[in-house]
Amino acid sequence: MPEYTLRIRRYDPQSGEGAHWDTHTVDLSPVQSVLDAILKIKDDADGSIGIRCSCQQAICGSCGVRMNGKPGLACNTHLDEAAARVHSTGETPPVEGQQAPVITVEPMGNMPVIRDLIVDMDAVHWKKIRRVTPWLINKQPVPEREYIVPHENMVDVTQPMACIQCSACVSDCLAMEVDPLFVGPAALAKAYRFVGDPRDAQQAERLRDLSEDPHGIYDCTHCFNCIDACPKGVDPMNQIMRLRRVAGSDHHIEDRNNGYRHEHAFVKNIRKNGILHESDLLADSYGGKFNPAAVPELVSGLPTAIKGLARGKMTPKNLLGHPHKASPEVKRLFDKIESKPTRNELNLYVSGVEDEPEPPTTADAEARS
Ligand code: SF4
Ligand code: SF4
Ligand code: FES
Repeated sequence: MPEYTLRIRRYDPQSGEGAHWDTHTVDLSPVQSVLDAILKIKDDADGSIGIRCSCQQAICGSCGVRMNGKPGLACNTHLDEAAARVHSTGETPPVEGQQAPVITVEPMGNMPVIRDLIVDMDAVHWKKIRRVTPWLINKQPVPEREYIVPHENMVDVTQPMACIQCSACVSDCLAMEVDPLFVGPAALAKAYRFVGDPRDAQQAERLRDLSEDPHGIYDCTHCFNCIDACPKGVDPMNQIMRLRRVAGSDHHIEDRNNGYRHEHAFVKNIRKNGILHESDLLADSYGGKFNPAAVPELVSGLPTAIKGLARGKMTPKNLLGHPHKASPEVKRLFDKIESKPTRNELNLYVSGVEDEPEPPTTADAEARS
């Protein structure tokens, strides 16, 4: 049986002492889970290690931790998979055969530690989930019998419904690291679950609320960490983008955070230039260079522009002008998409459509004869 070395971060805020690392070696099969290893260490060596777990089947969402720098479910991560991850500090796993591979296990990020590997989900995760009114507000009148929802609408919300509230996405959300008040990936995915449900009476109100909130849907920086972290394929960032599309394209909510105008400036920029011309983006987000609203923003962006010029990342030519112009192909693509009467939402989780059966090959026909 191969050996694995687990470095477990220990911390008890009530002890008054700082955090430290405990190291234990376990003999377990590579396809046993990190949780199996932690529970074995608890049984055999140190019962005081704090870890939260229940189902051991990737269902309850309680065993979220960071393993070699990446968040995930300890019960759903094989030892060999965790050991193969390069630690975010740049530490690489030892070469096979030289010594036991090391798996560093830490509590999830962006949440206060209660003890060892247990974080305070109430203080962050559940508080944010409650923020988005996580229940259906029925349209009236409610039918006497069942409320029938079109199949495509249910398929549309299946992806956020798969969430098990493990908070792995919250753990590594970069926007939340900078702005702890950001509503965050798990709660916003939950918000889409109700925004996308045709039985809900408050789609517009929910979207206006999350658009106007400075820590709402426009606070996400598209870092993709929540997509990588999620063990259930919920793709929280995609749910946030869908909230933005419904808010902007269907309800035309022009929020005070300038998120709506920023997105439109982006589209205009690409349509015109083919590639992004950053120096136009800021002004266009505030109505164009000559709009009085843009002046304070342009002035506040001056130090960045000066730094860029000083470091050679920008030149006066590309700051003021732009050599690129969109090719006719780009314009044709825009025209084609914008002329469509309905928007095609891509739910990459479940298509709701069976794959077409493969046509029989000559080899199949020969095998049958
Ligand atoms: S994509 Fe957005 S929500 Fe997801 S982790 Fe990054 S900043 Fe957070
Ligand atoms: S979206 Fe994914 S990572 Fe985030 S809480 Fe839900 S299941 Fe966990
Ligand atoms: S113990 Fe339930 S998800 Fe891991």
